[in-house]
Amino acid sequence: MNDLTNNAVWLEWLLEGVHRAQWALLQMLHATGMTGEVDGQPAWPFAMRIAGENLLIDQAQARQFAISLAVVAGVALLLAVSIFWRRKRRWLWAGSVLALLLAPWPSAAVLFTEAHPTSFHASSIPFSDRTIARGAAHYAALCVQCHGANGKGQGALASAQKVWPPNFASPLLWRRADGDLLWAIRHGVKGRDGAPTMPAFASSVGPDEAWELLHYLRALAAGELLSATGNWPQPVHLPDMQLRCQRAHKTQLSQWQEQRVLLLTADPKTLLPDPRMVTIWLPERDVEQVPDNVDCVVADAGRARQAMALVNGGSRIDDTQWLTDRRGWLRARNARGAAAWADDDLLCKSPLADVEAGPGTKNDDQLTRIIRTMDAEPVRFVKGGRVH
Ligand code: HEC
Repeated sequence: MNDLTNNAVWLEWLLEGVHRAQWALLQMLHATGMTGEVDGQPAWPFAMRIAGENLLIDQAQARQFAISLAVVAGVALLLAVSIFWRRKRRWLWAGSVLALLLAPWPSAAVLFTEAHPTSFHASSIPFSDRTIARGAAHYAALCVQCHGANGKGQGALASAQKVWPPNFASPLLWRRADGDLLWAIRHGVKGRDGAPTMPAFASSVGPDEAWELLHYLRALAAGELLSATGNWPQPVHLPDMQLRCQRAHKTQLSQWQEQRVLLLTADPKTLLPDPRMVTIWLPERDVEQVPDNVDCVVADAGRARQAMALVNGGSRIDDTQWLTDRRGWLRARNARGAAAWADDDLLCKSPLADVEAGPGTKNDDQLTRIIRTMDAEPVRFVKGGRVH
């Protein structure tokens, strides 16, 4: 899941810097009226954007780009100096031009990628059991005939397409910028020859519906990857859901910000209180009472169970517990009811983490080790050139 290893901190800074610079440019153009809005958010007015995702793959070019940016900063300094140092001005200017010419600029083909007006859009609706269910309904009506029930591109009409529909049980949805995926759904995809390869759905799918579709696809793809590989190589959030809580005035899971969450379908009777996490019971049918030893119970059990079945790869979700980190990423699953956790239950981890089950001593119980590893190895991945 982790594209960024610890020795690439400079790259992370570069990608985040590039993203922020473009984002700031977009906000400025929008604030000064130089670009309008599309689908409710400022429209990127250029045909290209800097492709952080390419720099991630081609790190030699990324390094060249970083050096060139440093040269540009140096040149800016020289020019500032030249304002005051008139006698040497000519030399300083000549030196600046030379430095810019000699800088190891990366190739434009790597540095830039095609952009759309929505390239920098972020989802306007939450990733929740409700939006996933709505996305599922749109998908069954409009997309399944090509993309297939499991999103692997095996729909009935797939073979009749010019290009085979992609396999969503892959890093695709985690690599591409959300805004570019939104554009693909509403405005279609064109091949190299400019002819459409996927039809446009803007007339039947509004921006909100398109976000719902993307939420559904992400949950579906995470689940398919889980059943294929035994873990979540691409991270997925615990979907938001409605709650009834006993001591807290919370009605949504998302209101438990910055907390680890344990969601369980297993019988909560044997659950011991654990101050390290919020405990939420997902019963089989809606219940009136919140049992004493959990913090909350899910209010709409049927809908939440559907969403959890999806991210769980369609396998049965009875007797299961899921654990999130403090940022809401699903990190571990224990499908053995009330039995103790095992190290292998950590399903979303960085390649660095499984060398050793995180810092800690041999005497820690497994759940403690999972929590330590989770905290020591936060989820990091690059999407559309942006670090998440
Ligand atoms: C008529 C067949 C067809 C239908 C219907 C269809 N798609 Fe596609 N879709 C494709 C094909 C073919 C591609 C691959 C296009 C390419 O790579 O050039 C694709 C690609 C995509 C992609 C990836 C775009 C990218 O940037 O790589 C997404 C996301 C997607 N489809 C979502 C949807 C959704 C959501 C729906 C339903 C609203 C849908 N598709 C309906 C055929 C279809």
